[in-house]
Amino acid sequence: MTNKNIFVLSIIGFCTLFIYSCNSTKNSGNPMAKLTTEKIEEDEISRKVKQLLSKMTLEEKIGQMNQYTGFFDPTGPTPKDGNNKTKYDHVASGQVGSMLNVRGVKEVRAMQKIAVEETRLGIPLVFAFDVIHGFKTISPIPLAEAASWDLEAIKQSARTAAIEASAAGLNWTFAPMVDVGRDARWGRVMEGAGEDPYLGSKVAVARVKGFQGDDLSANNTISACAKHFAGYGFSESGKDYNTVDVGLSTLYNTILPPFKACSDAGVSTFMNSFNELNGIPATGDAFLQREILKGEWGFEGFVISDWGSISEMIAHGHAADGKHASELAANAGSDMDMESHLYVNHLKELVESGKVDMKKIDDATGRILKVKFELGLFDDPYRYCNEAREKEEIYNKKHADAVLDIAKKSIVLLKNDNNTLPLSKNGKSIALIGPLADDKTSPLGNWRLAGEDETAVSVLEGLEKYSNNKLTHSKGVKFVEDKTFFHAHVNYNKDDKTGIEEAVKVAKNADVVIMVLGEHGMQSGEGRSRAHIDLPGVQQELLEAVYEANKNIVLVLMNGRPLALPWAAENVPAIVEAWHLGSQSGHAIAEVLYGDYNPSGKLPMSFPKTVGQVPIYYNYKNTGRPGPKKEVFWQHYTDVTNEPQYAFGHGLSYTTFKYSNLLITKNGGNNVSVSVNVTNSGKMDGEEVVQLYIRDQVASVTRPVKELKGFEKINLKAGESKTVKFTLSDQELGFYNNQRKFIVEPGMFDVMVGGNSVDLLIDGFEL
Ligand code: BGC
Repeated sequence: MTNKNIFVLSIIGFCTLFIYSCNSTKNSGNPMAKLTTEKIEEDEISRKVKQLLSKMTLEEKIGQMNQYTGFFDPTGPTPKDGNNKTKYDHVASGQVGSMLNVRGVKEVRAMQKIAVEETRLGIPLVFAFDVIHGFKTISPIPLAEAASWDLEAIKQSARTAAIEASAAGLNWTFAPMVDVGRDARWGRVMEGAGEDPYLGSKVAVARVKGFQGDDLSANNTISACAKHFAGYGFSESGKDYNTVDVGLSTLYNTILPPFKACSDAGVSTFMNSFNELNGIPATGDAFLQREILKGEWGFEGFVISDWGSISEMIAHGHAADGKHASELAANAGSDMDMESHLYVNHLKELVESGKVDMKKIDDATGRILKVKFELGLFDDPYRYCNEAREKEEIYNKKHADAVLDIAKKSIVLLKNDNNTLPLSKNGKSIALIGPLADDKTSPLGNWRLAGEDETAVSVLEGLEKYSNNKLTHSKGVKFVEDKTFFHAHVNYNKDDKTGIEEAVKVAKNADVVIMVLGEHGMQSGEGRSRAHIDLPGVQQELLEAVYEANKNIVLVLMNGRPLALPWAAENVPAIVEAWHLGSQSGHAIAEVLYGDYNPSGKLPMSFPKTVGQVPIYYNYKNTGRPGPKKEVFWQHYTDVTNEPQYAFGHGLSYTTFKYSNLLITKNGGNNVSVSVNVTNSGKMDGEEVVQLYIRDQVASVTRPVKELKGFEKINLKAGESKTVKFTLSDQELGFYNNQRKFIVEPGMFDVMVGGNSVDLLIDGFEL
């Protein structure tokens, strides 16, 4: 090397260190110390990865890119014969990098032993599982948690899940799902954080941090996975797996931000998705995976396909056969094949024939090995396999406490006319009615794979333990499960109304009626899109029949998506959105109904008046014909107003909050401070989510009428006031143009602050 080269290299090295130290100064108390350790660890890991790669054969590298779902019961004989023989042989010969759905220390250890002891290089497996909202102790569904707007509680919930899952031998979860969802028909909105990219990004980061903690190699932290990259939530007509066609503006400003936030926060892995995006299945999309994720964003972890999504490119009409699908997926940057069984069969030949460059195989394998090193699996492949820890952590009481905490915070009080709630604890007789009132399974919601049926506290149990009020229970109507279906499928029971009469009788004799209606836990989630988003089955009839007998109704809703319930919104005096709240549901609901917890949740998704309004979201564009107008030719329906039933950010409390004194200060450059006074003007202590929205009035690419750009959840004692401050800078004021450039444009901005997305103080500034 010449002197000149050495000089140039040292300058580059110095500059890199300088830039690195400037960046990390923003984030840590002692930046240089952290920088040095992190950098050394990173260098050390990449050195180890390179070293290991140099020892691996092509087959072994491809093996790392292969994931199988579990296939044997470790308490029985291992499958050296029969259907699973190939899978077994593949693990034993180093042709598998990861296992899915193997859980429990005994099971994980048995499988890991094969990889470590029988393969040539002894590379440990990484064990994945869908730990979506809890492992055994189940927390609220993610959509519900997002309604808490409490990032610390959300992080804690993911932490709890990681502690239990890691104690069962797992080290990788397929969560968080960060797909923005604007269409309540799509069953998977239950798994996300709702309709807003800003709230969605904050929640996504909280979840990643909760799962991964500060040290991925600790035995109680696990790798997270941002999914589904990308556009899955924008499926046409809300049908799962359906076509997605969106422009660059929506892609960059609405769909991608939560993914970018996860990448910036250091998420270990990404999962691509089943859908096609603008004509190309996401699994085979190099623009998404190579150009944006690994290029523009510099993501250094790895990408796993969704279940069988590599082979599904054949049905999409994009790949001719399995070999072609493998070529497209590997070239596009899908690093690991989940259950298509294609990489393991075709990649070798594709590399040898020059269709897939060896460098791409090295890149994918290197990324996978890097995560395994970060998890500490090479130091101790059994570090997550400790029976004593498993026994201690699964269903630990402190996990029940943690999920109760977030369950209470996730409840949204939608309506409370005449202070129907909170309930009095003294002497009232209560009729508890509805198919979900005594249900101990539905409250667990969908995607709780390890969660056990009948383990949730039902509303009936919650209320029974809570007060001495006289409680009479009647189901009214039932859900019907169709056991012939693959995976739990729930029919809507359109016929059996025999229980309504008894429910009406019970209601007549009560002071208050609590009705628990909504969706069975398996009526939302993957593959459970609905064209009608009202109360399934004959529940509406039950509600109206009971209302005839007793109008003093508190409607407790359990559901995995926004429902359209215009009749209830009009007639029922109190409505509580209780989602599917997990293991502690009944206790959380009882505390809220009796006022021992003052509800503080706010909707993360708009609730429509009718399914015809869907997709409906607060951050829409104004169009050239905004309204409302007393004429025909503007952007509207002729049979329903444009407003949702309950808007994004809406949620009542048992107290009231007053907003005043909105102040905007320009600090120079693109930096603006906003402050507002919030007063608890009611009689009860309570929490409020103070929300800040902006509108960029004129832009080279039109901007929404409102965009959430800040929020803070505060606690105020009755009569207390606080000043809440926000800062707006480039990140909040800018947007991506159609050349995919993030820009901040000068001009007039509105600033709106309030307790929901509708009732807002408004002022503005010029940038
Ligand atoms: C889902 C993923 C999930 C995977 C593995 C797929 O059907 O789309 O979100 O992680 O299955 O269970």
